[in-house]
Amino acid sequence: MAKKLNLENYPDYLESWWIEKACNYFKKDSLEQILPQLQSAVQELSDLFTLGRTDPIRNYSKNERLLVGYGIFFFPQMYARTQFPISEILKFRQWNPTSNDTLKILDLGSGLGASGQSAAIELRNNFVNRPILVHSVDQSSLSLQWSEEMRFDLRNQLKNITFQHHVADYTRYKKLQSIADNIFDLIIFSYSINEVIEFEDTENIYNWLLDLSKQLSPNGLLCIIEPALCLTSERLEKLRNHISEKKEFFIWGPCLHSEKCPLLNEQKFWCQEVKSWNPPKSMELVNRKLWRSIRELKFSFLIIGKNSPKQLPNNTEKMFRLISPVSKMKGKYLMTGCAADGQKHVYDLQTRHLDRRNKNLIEEIERGDIIKLKKAKTLGDKYTHRIENIEDLEIIFDPKK
Ligand SMILES: C[S@@+](CC[C@H](N)C(=O)[O-])C[C@H]1O[C@@H](n2cnc3c(N)ncnc32)[C@H](O)[C@@H]1O
Repeated sequence: MAKKLNLENYPDYLESWWIEKACNYFKKDSLEQILPQLQSAVQELSDLFTLGRTDPIRNYSKNERLLVGYGIFFFPQMYARTQFPISEILKFRQWNPTSNDTLKILDLGSGLGASGQSAAIELRNNFVNRPILVHSVDQSSLSLQWSEEMRFDLRNQLKNITFQHHVADYTRYKKLQSIADNIFDLIIFSYSINEVIEFEDTENIYNWLLDLSKQLSPNGLLCIIEPALCLTSERLEKLRNHISEKKEFFIWGPCLHSEKCPLLNEQKFWCQEVKSWNPPKSMELVNRKLWRSIRELKFSFLIIGKNSPKQLPNNTEKMFRLISPVSKMKGKYLMTGCAADGQKHVYDLQTRHLDRRNKNLIEEIERGDIIKLKKAKTLGDKYTHRIENIEDLEIIFDPKK
């Protein structure tokens, strides 16, 4: 039933759709002719997303010029990011959603629809022949109208996936229930919950999610994807700690354990994924004068479910998620991991016995990849370990492979 996933980053048909939309909006024939307009829209959006997270952010989705900028520059990133947590639950956790035929996704704060669409495609790649239904909910009727238009135009590429669009405030849970009177296999908030949880304490958010989880199927999962900023990531870590205390949900990712978050304890670094990718040409073109670093996708995420994931093959420091870059020091590589024992550990690997091929292998490991060690020698304190032989290291989850 399951087919190997092949992360495709960002499909050409979506890039072409957005280029045509942008050219039509600015009444020009090519992307080159509208670069200054797009650059100023992207700059405005970037400022809103990173600096002024207050009222204006709620209004960008009513502004066609800003939505065009979003479509060319942010939509591809949202689309590609979503592939990583979804492929983790499919490939690493071997999630089996439900015995029913149709797979149902509820995309809350769907905006122009990048994440819901990307998740649907990943599920379609994995569960071939099962129909997929996506309910997209957003307060912006303009965003939903555009995403409906896109999905109609691209119906040949989106075969077997049906979309329903609902203009609604997703915090009004009762209203939401009447719109989407359904049980879902996957509920997604992608870069949308921060606009709400900013003003709420963790307990309230938790209770709200608990209420929402009544709409999750027994094997259903709730996936929150957030910007990798310290503030937004730590908010997610606090929510995650609350979840692990209450024991009403199971944590499916990113953590390999349900102990307290070791990073939040220290408050020095925060948990984030950093993944390299190939941005579409149109995004690179717009970026020429913006000089933003677009070769990496950064984000934080949390996936929870009412049922527990399958047990991991190892729950010690020998299995860990990489939570730092791999850094090359004099004569060795250093890596920090959040391990299945719930602790942060540091691992070193001496370079002297490594050939170029093995060095490349280590240098290609990215934050968020999951590693298993056959053996490691504990040095000094119990949180530092030496990998003495490269053969003892196995990358057991790299979403790109
Ligand atoms: C940054 S966009 C993310 C869009 C989308 N998830 C994606 O994949 O591109 C945030 C979206 O959340 C929506 N949103 C924020 N608060 C909302 C609420 N209370 N109810 C419904 N939509 C909301 C906004 O209208 C906006 O479209």
